[in-house]
Amino acid sequence: MNPNTERFIPFALPSIGEEEERGVVEVLRSGWLTTGPVAKRFEAEVAALVGSRHALALNSATAGLHLALEAVGVGAGDRVLTTPYTFAASAEVIRYLGASPLFLDIDGETLNIDPSGVEEALSRGPSPREGGSIRAVLPVHVGGLPCRMERILAACAAAGVPLVEDAAHAFPVRTEGLGGRRAYCGTLGAAGVYSFYATKTITTGEGGMLVTDSDEIARRVSLMRLHGIDREVWNRYVSRDAEWRYEIVEAGYKYNLTDIAAAIGRAQLAKAADFLERRRSIAARYLAAFADADYLRLPAASDDHAWHLFTLRIVEDRLTIDRDEMVRSLMDHGIGVSVHFIPLHIMPYYRNAYGFKPEDFPNALQAYRTIFSLPIYPSLTDEQVERVVAGVRSVAERHRRGRPDAGRRG
Ligand SMILES: Cc1ncc(COP(=O)(O)O)c(C=O)c1O
Repeated sequence: MNPNTERFIPFALPSIGEEEERGVVEVLRSGWLTTGPVAKRFEAEVAALVGSRHALALNSATAGLHLALEAVGVGAGDRVLTTPYTFAASAEVIRYLGASPLFLDIDGETLNIDPSGVEEALSRGPSPREGGSIRAVLPVHVGGLPCRMERILAACAAAGVPLVEDAAHAFPVRTEGLGGRRAYCGTLGAAGVYSFYATKTITTGEGGMLVTDSDEIARRVSLMRLHGIDREVWNRYVSRDAEWRYEIVEAGYKYNLTDIAAAIGRAQLAKAADFLERRRSIAARYLAAFADADYLRLPAASDDHAWHLFTLRIVEDRLTIDRDEMVRSLMDHGIGVSVHFIPLHIMPYYRNAYGFKPEDFPNALQAYRTIFSLPIYPSLTDEQVERVVAGVRSVAERHRRGRPDAGRRG
């Protein structure tokens, strides 16, 4: 038994305090638990922060991506341009609509979609074998590092194809949009989506938010998130003036966020700037601590990074262990680590549906072979950060290629 096991450093932990508890208790005592006034306030606060005309609270980012693609007109037989280096959600929502992902490889440095690939794909279109036409572009800000949006947006504008941002990891950070104008990730394209899943930069347990400046998209999403009912009916049980009659005008979904969750979200939102600062200071410490480690490849850094994830890559010819052994050894050292991402194109579903081979997306495959993610969250203490640094260095240095005792396990 490793002596560090008792002091295991979790890979991720939410930062929940009295403010969140108070908010939830207030809602529980209010008599109104599901979507209502608290969700409305949460939406208004997010819209004000990121500067979008509309913010629509949802029960997940997955729901938001689904509704955003639906609202911009993606349908059966269409193609949506994205990368395989992401979580299940980014591509499965494309399949919900009967469309197919058109995967592009990532930029090997940033792990984000490669802007030249987008430019080329939009001017060339899908091959006859792939079929369909590109109806939307879905860039993912992997780990919270903003994609090169200026170029991607310009390519979309030139092709007349709407852009939906998967900003699940990138709340609340800014980057350059068209013409170098700085704006929040999520607000740069036709619509953008944040995730408030338990490990994200702010959380509601499960939840998400879609932001857009388009009245038309907002109207459609608002309709489809609650059963395709023609108008807001959330107050139909509590207000004397409420109209009980409604009409279903579409086969919609059940994607609304509860007031219980929104209360947590409002308290988290008030702390979002402090959370971001703490994540940034942990990232700065990791970057400095591993700067001289030639057996590790550091993540692409940027002042705009949200640092939802801090990833390292092993340099394979400098170490005698592979990524899997690195992950195992760190876990044995009491350090929670994870892997982001297992590329979608090597998953059985996508392999079977589209006939992908692992080497179809070499940058994504190479990143996956070598990458692991370290703990990074606001409640991680300086002492824990130093233990993570020491743990990574000690495991790696014990397995440096060329060391007389390298390769010995332990
Ligand atoms: C890149 C990315 N997009 C979308 C999602 C979906 O978020 P949610 O769990 O809120 O549906 C995730 C979740 O981890 C994600 O990592």
